Amino acid sequence: MTNFQTTSPSDSDPIDSLNMTVPSFDLLDGTKIPWIAWGNGTGQAQKQALRCGELALASGIHHIDTAQLYKTERETIEAIKKSDLNRDQVYITSKLSAGDNDDPVPISEVVQSVKESIERLGTIPDLFLVHNPFVVPPGQLKALWKILEDLKAAGELKSIGVSNFRPQDLEEILDGARYKPVVNQLEYHPYTLVHLQPVLDIQAKHGIVTESYGSLTPILRYPTGGPLKPVLERIAARISKATGKNLDTTVVLLLWIRVQGVVAVTASGNPDRIKSLGEIATLPDLLERNEIEELTNVGKTVHFRFYTEHMEKDFPLPNLPNE
Ligand SMILES: NC(=O)c1ccc[n+]([C@@H]2O[C@H](COP(=O)([O-])OP(=O)(O)OC[C@H]3O[C@@H](n4cnc5c(N)ncnc54)[C@H](OP(=O)(O)O)[C@@H]3O)[C@@H](O)[C@H]2O)c1
Repeated sequence: MTNFQTTSPSDSDPIDSLNMTVPSFDLLDGTKIPWIAWGNGTGQAQKQALRCGELALASGIHHIDTAQLYKTERETIEAIKKSDLNRDQVYITSKLSAGDNDDPVPISEVVQSVKESIERLGTIPDLFLVHNPFVVPPGQLKALWKILEDLKAAGELKSIGVSNFRPQDLEEILDGARYKPVVNQLEYHPYTLVHLQPVLDIQAKHGIVTESYGSLTPILRYPTGGPLKPVLERIAARISKATGKNLDTTVVLLLWIRVQGVVAVTASGNPDRIKSLGEIATLPDLLERNEIEELTNVGKTVHFRFYTEHMEKDFPLPNLPNE
Protein backbone atom coordinates (compact mmCIF):
# COMPACT_ATOMS: atom_id res chain seq x y z
CA MET A 1 0.00 0.00 0.00
CA THR A 2 1.68 3.19 -1.09
CA ASN A 3 -0.93 5.89 -1.26
CA PHE A 4 -2.89 5.47 1.96
CA GLN A 5 -3.58 8.77 3.68
CA THR A 6 -5.49 9.94 6.66
CA THR A 7 -7.17 13.22 5.95
CA SER A 8 -6.18 16.05 8.23
CA PRO A 9 -7.90 19.33 9.06
CA SER A 10 -5.17 21.28 7.28
CA ASP A 11 -5.82 19.67 3.91
CA SER A 12 -7.67 21.92 1.49
CA ASP A 13 -9.20 19.34 -0.86
CA PRO A 14 -13.02 19.40 -0.46
CA ILE A 15 -13.03 15.65 0.17
CA ASP A 16 -10.76 16.30 3.14
CA SER A 17 -13.39 18.45 4.77
CA LEU A 18 -15.79 15.50 4.84
CA ASN A 19 -14.79 13.64 7.87
CA MET A 20 -11.37 14.30 9.20
CA THR A 21 -10.72 10.78 10.34
CA VAL A 22 -11.78 8.69 7.32
CA PRO A 23 -8.64 7.75 5.40
CA SER A 24 -8.55 8.22 1.66
CA PHE A 25 -6.47 7.00 -1.26
CA ASP A 26 -4.85 9.13 -3.93
CA LEU A 27 -6.06 8.60 -7.50
CA LEU A 28 -3.75 9.11 -10.44
CA ASP A 29 -5.63 12.20 -11.67
CA GLY A 30 -4.67 14.02 -8.46
CA THR A 31 -7.97 13.54 -6.61
CA LYS A 32 -8.68 11.53 -3.47
CA ILE A 33 -11.25 8.84 -2.78
CA PRO A 34 -12.52 7.83 0.69
CA TRP A 35 -11.40 4.25 1.39
CA ILE A 36 -14.89 2.94 2.16
CA ALA A 37 -18.18 3.37 0.29
CA TRP A 38 -21.75 2.39 1.02
CA GLY A 39 -23.33 1.07 -2.18
CA ASN A 40 -27.03 1.18 -3.01
CA GLY A 41 -26.91 -1.52 -5.67
CA THR A 42 -27.77 -4.64 -3.69
CA GLY A 43 -30.28 -6.02 -1.16
CA GLN A 44 -32.20 -3.75 1.17
CA ALA A 45 -29.69 -0.97 0.56
CA GLN A 46 -31.04 -0.75 -2.98
CA LYS A 47 -34.70 -1.25 -2.05
CA GLN A 48 -34.52 1.47 0.61
CA ALA A 49 -31.79 3.57 -0.96
CA LEU A 50 -33.06 6.90 0.37
CA ARG A 51 -33.62 5.93 4.00
CA CYS A 52 -30.50 3.76 4.17
CA GLY A 53 -28.45 6.41 2.37
CA GLU A 54 -29.45 8.95 5.01
CA LEU A 55 -28.41 6.49 7.74
CA ALA A 56 -25.09 5.77 6.04
CA LEU A 57 -24.28 9.48 5.75
CA ALA A 58 -25.30 10.11 9.36
CA SER A 59 -23.11 7.21 10.50
CA GLY A 60 -20.00 8.81 8.99
CA ILE A 61 -19.82 7.13 5.57
CA HIS A 62 -19.34 9.90 3.03
CA HIS A 63 -18.96 7.88 -0.15
CA ILE A 64 -21.99 6.49 -2.02
CA ASP A 65 -21.70 4.03 -4.90
CA THR A 66 -24.60 4.05 -7.34
CA ALA A 67 -25.12 3.16 -11.01
CA GLN A 68 -27.64 3.59 -13.79
CA LEU A 69 -28.46 -0.11 -13.41
CA TYR A 70 -29.44 0.23 -9.74
CA LYS A 71 -31.97 2.99 -10.47
CA THR A 72 -30.86 4.75 -7.29
CA GLU A 73 -29.17 7.86 -8.66
CA ARG A 74 -32.06 10.11 -7.59
CA GLU A 75 -32.17 8.55 -4.12
CA THR A 76 -28.42 9.14 -3.81
CA ILE A 77 -28.73 12.89 -4.16
CA GLU A 78 -31.97 13.00 -2.15
CA ALA A 79 -30.20 11.27 0.75
CA ILE A 80 -27.44 13.89 0.61
CA LYS A 81 -29.98 16.72 0.54
CA LYS A 82 -31.72 15.28 3.60
CA SER A 83 -28.44 14.89 5.46
CA ASP A 84 -26.43 17.50 7.34
CA LEU A 85 -23.77 17.35 4.65
CA ASN A 86 -23.16 19.54 1.64
CA ARG A 87 -22.76 18.01 -1.80
CA ASP A 88 -18.99 18.59 -1.75
CA GLN A 89 -18.69 16.64 1.49
CA VAL A 90 -19.86 13.42 -0.16
CA TYR A 91 -17.99 11.44 -2.78
CA ILE A 92 -20.40 10.07 -5.40
CA THR A 93 -19.65 7.27 -7.84
CA SER A 94 -22.02 6.35 -10.65
CA LYS A 95 -21.69 4.05 -13.66
CA LEU A 96 -22.71 3.82 -17.29
CA SER A 97 -24.67 0.57 -17.42
CA ALA A 98 -26.16 -1.45 -20.25
CA GLY A 99 -29.85 -0.92 -20.93
CA ASP A 100 -32.73 -3.10 -19.76
CA ASN A 101 -32.16 -6.76 -20.74
CA ASP A 102 -28.43 -5.98 -20.86
CA ASP A 103 -28.81 -4.32 -24.27
CA PRO A 104 -25.60 -2.43 -25.04
CA VAL A 105 -25.80 1.35 -25.28
CA PRO A 106 -25.28 2.41 -28.92
CA ILE A 107 -22.13 4.51 -29.08
CA SER A 108 -24.14 7.41 -30.52
CA GLU A 109 -26.25 7.46 -27.32
CA VAL A 110 -23.43 7.43 -24.76
CA VAL A 111 -23.21 11.21 -24.27
CA GLN A 112 -26.97 11.43 -23.78
CA SER A 113 -26.88 8.55 -21.30
CA VAL A 114 -24.12 10.24 -19.26
CA LYS A 115 -26.08 13.50 -19.30
CA GLU A 116 -29.18 11.71 -18.04
CA SER A 117 -27.18 10.32 -15.13
CA ILE A 118 -25.95 13.80 -14.27
CA GLU A 119 -29.52 15.07 -14.51
CA ARG A 120 -30.83 12.38 -12.16
CA LEU A 121 -27.99 13.04 -9.73
CA GLY A 122 -28.38 16.78 -10.05
CA THR A 123 -24.59 16.99 -9.98
CA ILE A 124 -21.52 15.64 -11.76
CA PRO A 125 -20.45 12.50 -9.88
CA ASP A 126 -16.91 12.56 -8.47
CA LEU A 127 -16.24 9.29 -10.27
CA PHE A 128 -17.99 7.85 -13.31
CA LEU A 129 -17.31 4.23 -14.27
CA VAL A 130 -17.93 1.99 -17.25
CA HIS A 131 -19.97 -0.68 -15.46
CA ASN A 132 -18.50 -3.54 -17.47
CA PRO A 133 -16.84 -4.01 -20.87
CA PHE A 134 -20.14 -4.96 -22.48
CA VAL A 135 -22.10 -1.76 -21.92
CA VAL A 136 -21.37 -0.83 -25.53
CA PRO A 137 -21.45 -3.14 -28.58
CA PRO A 138 -18.42 -5.38 -29.22
CA GLY A 139 -15.35 -3.57 -30.53
CA GLN A 140 -16.54 -0.16 -29.27
CA LEU A 141 -14.71 0.10 -25.94
CA LYS A 142 -12.00 2.40 -27.24
CA ALA A 143 -14.60 4.68 -28.81
CA LEU A 144 -16.53 4.72 -25.52
CA TRP A 145 -13.40 5.59 -23.55
CA LYS A 146 -12.62 8.45 -25.94
CA ILE A 147 -16.10 9.88 -25.35
CA LEU A 148 -15.57 9.79 -21.58
CA GLU A 149 -12.13 11.37 -22.02
CA ASP A 150 -13.66 14.17 -24.10
CA LEU A 151 -16.35 14.76 -21.46
CA LYS A 152 -13.68 14.89 -18.76
CA ALA A 153 -11.53 17.29 -20.81
CA ALA A 154 -14.58 19.53 -21.25
CA GLY A 155 -15.25 19.52 -17.49
CA GLU A 156 -18.48 17.59 -17.98
CA LEU A 157 -17.13 14.60 -16.04
CA LYS A 158 -14.62 14.49 -13.18
CA SER A 159 -12.68 11.25 -12.51
CA ILE A 160 -13.32 8.39 -14.93
CA GLY A 161 -12.74 4.69 -14.42
CA VAL A 162 -13.95 1.19 -15.16
CA SER A 163 -15.47 -1.85 -13.49
CA ASN A 164 -15.29 -5.58 -14.13
CA PHE A 165 -12.52 -5.11 -16.67
CA ARG A 166 -10.34 -8.15 -17.45
CA PRO A 167 -6.72 -7.78 -18.63
CA GLN A 168 -7.72 -7.58 -22.31
CA ASP A 169 -10.38 -4.93 -21.59
CA LEU A 170 -7.91 -2.76 -19.68
CA GLU A 171 -5.25 -3.14 -22.38
CA GLU A 172 -7.78 -2.12 -25.01
CA ILE A 173 -8.53 1.27 -23.48
CA LEU A 174 -5.03 1.92 -22.10
CA ASP A 175 -3.63 1.75 -25.60
CA GLY A 176 -3.42 5.42 -26.60
CA ALA A 177 -5.48 6.65 -23.64
CA ARG A 178 -5.33 10.37 -22.87
CA TYR A 179 -6.57 9.66 -19.33
CA LYS A 180 -6.01 6.28 -17.74
CA PRO A 181 -8.94 4.88 -15.75
CA VAL A 182 -8.34 5.86 -12.12
CA VAL A 183 -9.99 2.72 -10.74
CA ASN A 184 -11.20 -0.74 -11.72
CA GLN A 185 -14.09 -1.86 -9.49
CA LEU A 186 -13.98 -5.64 -9.14
CA GLU A 187 -15.21 -8.48 -6.97
CA TYR A 188 -12.17 -8.53 -4.75
CA HIS A 189 -11.46 -10.58 -1.62
CA PRO A 190 -8.86 -13.20 -0.67
CA TYR A 191 -10.56 -15.95 -2.71
CA THR A 192 -10.27 -13.95 -5.96
CA LEU A 193 -6.61 -13.00 -5.55
CA VAL A 194 -4.97 -15.66 -7.71
CA HIS A 195 -7.44 -15.25 -10.56
CA LEU A 196 -7.17 -11.45 -10.50
CA GLN A 197 -3.36 -11.35 -10.45
CA PRO A 198 -3.00 -10.52 -14.18
CA VAL A 199 -5.46 -7.61 -13.78
CA LEU A 200 -3.79 -6.43 -10.59
CA ASP A 201 -0.38 -6.49 -12.31
CA ILE A 202 -1.61 -4.18 -15.08
CA GLN A 203 -3.20 -1.89 -12.53
CA ALA A 204 -0.02 -1.72 -10.44
CA LYS A 205 2.00 -0.84 -13.55
CA HIS A 206 -0.34 2.04 -14.43
CA GLY A 207 -1.30 3.26 -10.95
CA ILE A 208 -4.95 2.20 -11.28
CA VAL A 209 -6.57 1.74 -7.87
CA THR A 210 -8.71 -1.36 -7.23
CA GLU A 211 -12.16 -0.91 -5.74
CA SER A 212 -13.67 -4.02 -4.19
CA TYR A 213 -17.26 -5.16 -4.21
CA GLY A 214 -18.56 -8.48 -2.95
CA SER A 215 -15.83 -8.13 -0.36
CA LEU A 216 -17.74 -10.10 2.27
CA THR A 217 -18.16 -13.13 -0.01
CA PRO A 218 -15.79 -15.40 1.92
CA ILE A 219 -18.06 -15.05 4.97
CA LEU A 220 -21.50 -14.61 3.43
CA ARG A 221 -21.51 -16.48 0.14
CA TYR A 222 -18.83 -19.14 0.19
CA PRO A 223 -20.41 -22.36 1.44
CA THR A 224 -18.98 -23.11 4.92
CA GLY A 225 -16.65 -20.08 4.78
CA GLY A 226 -13.82 -22.32 3.66
CA PRO A 227 -10.29 -22.23 5.07
CA LEU A 228 -10.47 -18.49 5.80
CA LYS A 229 -13.28 -18.87 8.33
CA PRO A 230 -11.23 -20.00 11.35
CA VAL A 231 -8.51 -17.47 10.54
CA LEU A 232 -11.01 -14.60 10.32
CA GLU A 233 -12.67 -15.71 13.56
CA ARG A 234 -9.37 -15.91 15.42
CA ILE A 235 -8.31 -12.44 14.27
CA ALA A 236 -11.76 -10.98 15.02
CA ALA A 237 -11.52 -12.35 18.57
CA ARG A 238 -8.03 -10.89 19.02
CA ILE A 239 -8.88 -7.38 17.79
CA SER A 240 -12.14 -7.38 19.78
CA LYS A 241 -10.20 -8.20 22.94
CA ALA A 242 -7.47 -5.66 22.15
CA THR A 243 -9.92 -2.81 21.53
CA GLY A 244 -12.76 -3.75 23.88
CA LYS A 245 -15.12 -3.44 20.89
CA ASN A 246 -17.22 -6.14 19.27
CA LEU A 247 -15.44 -6.47 15.91
CA ASP A 248 -16.59 -9.38 13.77
CA THR A 249 -15.14 -11.18 10.75
CA THR A 250 -16.61 -8.61 8.32
CA VAL A 251 -14.47 -5.95 10.00
CA VAL A 252 -11.37 -8.10 9.57
CA LEU A 253 -12.06 -8.51 5.86
CA LEU A 254 -12.69 -4.78 5.35
CA LEU A 255 -9.48 -3.86 7.20
CA TRP A 256 -7.56 -6.42 5.14
CA ILE A 257 -8.95 -4.78 1.98
CA ARG A 258 -7.85 -1.33 3.14
CA VAL A 259 -4.36 -2.50 3.92
CA GLN A 260 -4.06 -3.79 0.33
CA GLY A 261 -4.60 -0.19 -0.85
CA VAL A 262 -8.04 -1.17 -2.15
CA VAL A 263 -11.23 0.89 -1.77
CA ALA A 264 -13.98 -1.16 -0.08
CA VAL A 265 -17.46 -0.80 -1.61
CA THR A 266 -19.81 -2.57 0.73
CA ALA A 267 -23.52 -2.30 1.48
CA SER A 268 -26.08 -2.75 4.17
CA GLY A 269 -29.78 -2.11 4.62
CA ASN A 270 -29.66 -3.00 8.30
CA PRO A 271 -29.64 0.12 10.51
CA ASP A 272 -27.34 -1.38 13.15
CA ARG A 273 -24.86 -2.59 10.55
CA ILE A 274 -24.97 0.73 8.70
CA LYS A 275 -24.07 2.45 11.97
CA SER A 276 -21.17 0.03 12.46
CA LEU A 277 -19.87 0.85 8.99
CA GLY A 278 -19.41 4.44 10.09
CA GLU A 279 -17.34 3.19 13.03
CA ILE A 280 -15.32 0.80 10.85
CA ALA A 281 -14.52 3.71 8.51
CA THR A 282 -12.41 5.37 11.16
CA LEU A 283 -10.74 2.35 12.76
CA PRO A 284 -6.94 2.38 12.79
CA ASP A 285 -4.97 -0.44 11.21
CA LEU A 286 -5.61 -3.20 13.74
CA LEU A 287 -4.26 -6.17 11.82
CA GLU A 288 -0.76 -7.44 12.47
CA ARG A 289 1.59 -8.08 9.58
CA ASN A 290 1.52 -11.86 10.08
CA GLU A 291 -2.31 -11.82 10.15
CA ILE A 292 -2.47 -9.86 6.89
CA GLU A 293 -0.09 -12.34 5.28
CA GLU A 294 -2.02 -15.31 6.62
CA LEU A 295 -5.31 -14.00 5.21
CA THR A 296 -3.65 -13.44 1.84
CA ASN A 297 -1.92 -16.82 1.77
CA VAL A 298 -4.94 -18.82 2.95
CA GLY A 299 -7.16 -16.92 0.48
CA LYS A 300 -4.84 -17.93 -2.33
CA THR A 301 -5.52 -21.63 -1.71
CA VAL A 302 -9.08 -21.33 -3.09
CA HIS A 303 -10.67 -19.72 -6.13
CA PHE A 304 -14.22 -18.57 -5.58
CA ARG A 305 -16.28 -15.68 -6.87
CA PHE A 306 -19.96 -14.93 -6.42
CA TYR A 307 -20.41 -12.59 -9.39
CA THR A 308 -19.11 -14.73 -12.25
CA GLU A 309 -20.65 -13.28 -15.42
CA HIS A 310 -17.95 -12.47 -18.01
CA MET A 311 -15.12 -12.51 -15.46
CA GLU A 312 -14.78 -16.23 -16.08
CA LYS A 313 -15.01 -15.86 -19.86
CA ASP A 314 -11.80 -15.51 -21.89
CA PHE A 315 -9.99 -15.05 -18.59
CA PRO A 316 -8.35 -18.32 -17.51
CA LEU A 317 -9.27 -19.67 -14.11
CA PRO A 318 -6.57 -20.76 -11.69
CA ASN A 319 -6.12 -24.43 -10.98
CA LEU A 320 -7.49 -24.19 -7.44
CA PRO A 321 -10.38 -25.81 -5.58
CA ASN A 322 -13.54 -23.71 -5.59
CA GLU A 323 -15.47 -25.47 -2.84
N1 LIG B 1 -19.46 -2.88 -10.19
C1 LIG B 1 -20.25 -3.93 -10.07
O1 LIG B 1 -20.48 -4.69 -11.02
C2 LIG B 1 -20.84 -4.23 -8.72
C3 LIG B 1 -21.38 -5.51 -8.47
C4 LIG B 1 -21.92 -5.75 -7.21
C5 LIG B 1 -21.94 -4.75 -6.25
N2 LIG B 1 -21.43 -3.51 -6.54
C6 LIG B 1 -21.48 -2.40 -5.55
O2 LIG B 1 -20.97 -2.85 -4.33
C7 LIG B 1 -21.97 -2.73 -3.31
C8 LIG B 1 -21.79 -3.84 -2.32
O3 LIG B 1 -21.95 -5.08 -2.97
P1 LIG B 1 -22.11 -6.45 -2.20
O4 LIG B 1 -23.49 -6.51 -1.67
O5 LIG B 1 -21.65 -7.52 -3.09
O6 LIG B 1 -21.10 -6.20 -0.98
P2 LIG B 1 -20.68 -7.03 0.29
O7 LIG B 1 -19.97 -6.04 1.15
O8 LIG B 1 -19.96 -8.27 -0.08
O9 LIG B 1 -22.03 -7.51 0.97
C9 LIG B 1 -22.96 -6.61 1.52
C10 LIG B 1 -24.07 -7.43 2.12
O10 LIG B 1 -23.55 -8.08 3.25
C11 LIG B 1 -24.54 -8.14 4.23
N3 LIG B 1 -23.86 -8.15 5.53
C12 LIG B 1 -22.93 -7.29 5.96
N4 LIG B 1 -22.49 -7.63 7.18
C13 LIG B 1 -23.15 -8.74 7.51
C14 LIG B 1 -23.14 -9.58 8.64
N5 LIG B 1 -22.34 -9.32 9.69
N6 LIG B 1 -23.95 -10.66 8.64
C15 LIG B 1 -24.77 -10.92 7.60
N7 LIG B 1 -24.83 -10.15 6.51
C16 LIG B 1 -24.03 -9.07 6.45
C17 LIG B 1 -25.39 -6.93 4.03
O11 LIG B 1 -26.69 -7.31 4.39
P3 LIG B 1 -27.64 -6.37 5.30
O12 LIG B 1 -28.28 -5.42 4.36
O13 LIG B 1 -28.58 -7.32 5.91
O14 LIG B 1 -26.75 -5.68 6.31
C18 LIG B 1 -25.27 -6.62 2.58
O15 LIG B 1 -26.38 -7.07 1.85
C19 LIG B 1 -23.28 -2.71 -4.08
O16 LIG B 1 -24.35 -2.14 -3.38
C20 LIG B 1 -22.89 -1.92 -5.29
O17 LIG B 1 -22.88 -0.54 -4.97
C21 LIG B 1 -20.86 -3.25 -7.75
